[in-house]
Amino acid sequence: MVLSAGFSAPTPIQAQSWPIAMQGRDIVAIAKTGSGKTLGYLIPGFMHLQRIRNDSRMGPTILVLSPTRELATQIQDEAVKFGRSSRISCTCLYGGAPKGPQLRDLERGADIVVATPGRLNDILEMRRISLRQVSYLVLDEADRMLDMGFEPQIRKIVKEIPTKRQTLMYTATWPKGVRKIAADLLVNPAQVNIGNVDELVANKSITQHIEVVAPMEKQRRLEQILRSQEPGSKVIIFCSTKRMCDQLTRNLTRQFGAAAIHGDKSQPERDNVLNQFRSGRTPVLVATDVAARGLDVKDIRAVINYDFPNGVEDYVHRIGRTGRAGATGEAFTFFGDQDSKHASDLIKILEGANQRVPPQIRDMAARGGGGMNKFSRWGPPSGGRGGGSGYGGRGGGSGYGGRGSDSGYGGRGSDSGYGGRGSFGSRDSGMGSRSSNGWGRDRERSRSPERFNRAPPPSSTGSPPRSFHETMMKHR
Ligand SMILES: Nc1ncnc2c1ncn2[C@@H]1O[C@H](COP(=O)(O)OP(=O)(O)OP(=O)(O)O)[C@@H](O)[C@H]1O
Ligand SMILES: [Mg+2]
Repeated sequence: MVLSAGFSAPTPIQAQSWPIAMQGRDIVAIAKTGSGKTLGYLIPGFMHLQRIRNDSRMGPTILVLSPTRELATQIQDEAVKFGRSSRISCTCLYGGAPKGPQLRDLERGADIVVATPGRLNDILEMRRISLRQVSYLVLDEADRMLDMGFEPQIRKIVKEIPTKRQTLMYTATWPKGVRKIAADLLVNPAQVNIGNVDELVANKSITQHIEVVAPMEKQRRLEQILRSQEPGSKVIIFCSTKRMCDQLTRNLTRQFGAAAIHGDKSQPERDNVLNQFRSGRTPVLVATDVAARGLDVKDIRAVINYDFPNGVEDYVHRIGRTGRAGATGEAFTFFGDQDSKHASDLIKILEGANQRVPPQIRDMAARGGGGMNKFSRWGPPSGGRGGGSGYGGRGGGSGYGGRGSDSGYGGRGSDSGYGGRGSFGSRDSGMGSRSSNGWGRDRERSRSPERFNRAPPPSSTGSPPRSFHETMMKHR
């Protein structure tokens, strides 16, 4: 299937996770941005469908949950493109659009449903979908769904799905909140990771420039960077507020062709803006974190962080919009005094990806702007923090967008930086006992985690995964 799609070989995460997913195991797969995680779960899903052969009018067999409509439709497009030859049907359920057409699609039958948790939950409450046939559940960008306050909806949805199922999580980062929900939802998962799971890793094909810029200087510097790009290059600019997005768009549009995307725009507007950006007609996209995750737009040349995000984990996702599928890209980040608390975390990311660390950033970190230690964002190396407390450390339950910042997504509390360094589940003493809290109550299999991270990709014995990936991508 991958070969017929014009790809010469699976990416490392695909090569490693497919055989395990095909055995029916629960899986946690961690790999850098743009490394093909979507097909990582879709292809084994297609195989699963061929084996199970349910009547799709009775409900989907595969359910993929995703935080935003843009991401959900992108996943659907990928499923339709790759599933067409096997006559696999896929539909998408998301908020901000009328329910009628979505309900009609469901009635016609869909093997795969890709949904945002809010809308799926509404449709479940209307009893217009049955999840009794779902035996393959995927959570894409699970931590973002939790940040957006979707936890109660996810819990309700999962209750409708039989416990005899396969559950998969494919993620670029592995923060504490996700570890907890993984411990709740997955049974004896195999963990596959490309790179080191204990460190947040940025894609090394992205050149990262960090610039210490005073707020007054940002606009001028931004225009300079935009002018330095080849005309018509796709660039995405992230800011922390919707208002700033609109303001920048107004300032930039005449010269560069810019449009904004954020949570205050209607869905048709958001669609339109994204389509124009994808086609290159509007080459500059100004966005809140609504566009930080998962979005796969061909040929984004540069990502500019006009405002520094709420944490380095979001930073890694944002810059990951460029340098995808073997391409290279550039990321420019404006860093101010108010961001100094992120300095030492950022240095780790830069060093981990062999990037230059500007001396001013080192100074800031040395002056005590050390995010992690000062605020103990990473937690102690083992045990301790959070163990046994069950999920909920993020103040879950506050509604969509209800978490402070004006990002259209709801910001993150200071507790949401990526957490503990323990291997999967090892610090989660709640793992065994959690079966009593209503989650997966009657799932029988053992919950002891097992790691597969040392398994080499089948065709690259001896060479490190990354170079396999690079080689593979170069030969496309
Ligand atoms: N085997 C392959 N060879 C080459 N390109 C591939 C392969 N598999 C997927 N791709 C392409 O790579 C791009 C990135 O894939 P995808 O969006 O799944 O990345 P991701 O790992 O989910 O990234 P993110 O962490 O940002 O969500 C897509 O355009 C996809 O079509
Ligand atoms: Mg993805």
